[in-house]
Amino acid sequence: MTIRSVRQKVTASPAPNEAEAVAIQVPVGEPSASAAGGAALGDVAITVRDLSAWYGARRVIRDVSMDIRSNAITAIIGPSGSGKSTLLRCLDRMHEVVPGARSSGKVAYQGVDIYDPEIEPAAVRRTIGMVFQQPNPFPTMSIYDNVAAPARFNGLVKGKAAQDELVERCLRQAALWDEVRDKLGHGGTSLSGGQQQRLCIARTLALQPKVLLMDEPCSALDPVATLQIEQLMSNLKSEYTIVIVTHNMQQASRVSDITAFFNMGPDRAGYLVELDDTRTLFTNPKNQLTEDYVSGRFG
Ligand SMILES: Nc1ncnc2c1ncn2[C@@H]1O[C@H](COP(=O)(O)OP(=O)(O)OP(=O)(O)O)[C@@H](O)[C@H]1O
Ligand SMILES: [Mg+2]
Repeated sequence: MTIRSVRQKVTASPAPNEAEAVAIQVPVGEPSASAAGGAALGDVAITVRDLSAWYGARRVIRDVSMDIRSNAITAIIGPSGSGKSTLLRCLDRMHEVVPGARSSGKVAYQGVDIYDPEIEPAAVRRTIGMVFQQPNPFPTMSIYDNVAAPARFNGLVKGKAAQDELVERCLRQAALWDEVRDKLGHGGTSLSGGQQQRLCIARTLALQPKVLLMDEPCSALDPVATLQIEQLMSNLKSEYTIVIVTHNMQQASRVSDITAFFNMGPDRAGYLVELDDTRTLFTNPKNQLTEDYVSGRFG
């Protein structure tokens, strides 16, 4: 395998007065078989190796190694408390924000160690965006500003015309434009729950991420709104790498390409039991625990 280095503007720093992206060295390799996910290196967006995470003295994730494939939807399933949300937060350096929380091991985006001291956490969070369980539009802002303000604040867009274009593009990408185009000045919280969640997705997209992490994004939504978000995810995966945590087995099997099953060990730390393409994991899992979980025998 040959590795060549390129200077690639991937992780823009939101430093004041600095809209320029930080240039980092990204190794680009020829495709080759990889250990954890069976994906070729060129297809891997995020590499996780021996990742453990703690809250205070308590370890809640143990030695997780997995590859997250580019332009695919990876579902993370597993019982409550198995560390799914914690894992997601380790992927965009949100875990370390919790007082007393820490992690060890390696997480790399496109071969770049996101925990390298040279890399700013804010740059990581721009490249790897998060959508939360409860839709959380900025309550005092209009629909328009919910999308435009973070991008403006980060120096990604200047001037009314550019903002108008960004707002429309992101609302279209989030499949919300037609429902809100005539009321962009209304408050973000005036929308229905499903619309609010799509607004939050539009807001995240406006920051030009490469990866979308979604932590149970449909758990507060009705079945119609849930299907809209699932459709949206399928449309977005040609441009983005998506990781979704879900308790909904049907959702995981409907929407994802790859599924990772987490369980808790005797010490109650979460670990990766099995990762495979979704059809195989649901119909022909290698591990008995996976079979028991996906068939509803525990969890
Ligand atoms: N801020 C925190 N402080 C201390 N412990 C925490 C914190 N957040 C989570 N934990 C603990 O870490 C463990 C893993 O939690 P996490 O939220 O990652 O699990 P999960 O798999 O996402 O669960 P769920 O399916 O219920 O959302 C749990 O035992 C939880 O109590
Ligand atoms: Mg969770």
